[in-house]
Amino acid sequence: MASATGIPEQHPTTVEAREDEPLLGTPGAVTQKEGVGIHHNLITGTATVAQAGIWILVALVWSGIFSHPLIFFSAHPLLNSSAILLQVQAILTLQPTATPKQKRIGTRVHFSLLAISNLSFIAALTIIEINKGDHPRFTSVHAILGLVTYILIALQASVGIIQYFFPSQILGSVERGKKIYKYHRLFGYFLLVLELATVAAATQTTYNQAVLGIQLWAVLVASVLVILGVGARIKKHKLGF
Ligand code: HEM
Repeated sequence: MASATGIPEQHPTTVEAREDEPLLGTPGAVTQKEGVGIHHNLITGTATVAQAGIWILVALVWSGIFSHPLIFFSAHPLLNSSAILLQVQAILTLQPTATPKQKRIGTRVHFSLLAISNLSFIAALTIIEINKGDHPRFTSVHAILGLVTYILIALQASVGIIQYFFPSQILGSVERGKKIYKYHRLFGYFLLVLELATVAAATQTTYNQAVLGIQLWAVLVASVLVILGVGARIKKHKLGF
């Protein structure tokens, strides 16, 4: 629109909104509003799609486990699926934050959720390793993918803690820590996909096919919902694009 001076007028909020534009959907739906509690971020915009997907995934795993006699192994899928549920909540919480205050609170919630999530992953790995006993290890696609996932999660968590809590001590300055943020975000999204792929691969294990019967197609449908719901809220500028 032209102004009285003849120079095209650009409304500042429009410019800001365009910078915040997610891959899909409208920016307003995924930017946390001033004075609105952080918990709203768990359901705004396409978060509902992601929530539907992750709760379906958890329901699939938990109903598979609880509809059979519980054994020591049962804790492995229960803990791993709970850990992924928490990872999704941690991502959804932080995505719409915009002001410094929102980001500070968001990061603390993100960190707390991921701390519990990562403890669950560690417990799940410990349980499967004890459960393996003398049997050969890392023989299935799920087992190899799972191990790679656990290692990358440990790496991602370490980088996250360093970049935010100890940037000066370990990287030399706060600015250097901030430069890593976009890689941490990108890698976080990649890790989520890897975690979902590991669950999909779990459906192909002998134990699942013989006993639990969790269906691959159902896990894939739930995973697609998670990826679409989370993916649509990605802000391109936060990834450095
Ligand atoms: C992100 C989530 C998960 C990760 C990272 C993961 C990781 C692993 C790892 C590393 C092993 C191999 C242990 C070894 O060979 O020494 C394993 C085994 C196993 N997991 Fe998972 N797991 C996950 C989720 C699940 C789920 C949801 C199920 C549900 C069916 C499951 C079922 C199994 C079974 C049956 C085994 C034993 C078979 C084998 O070792 O190939 N896992 N998991």
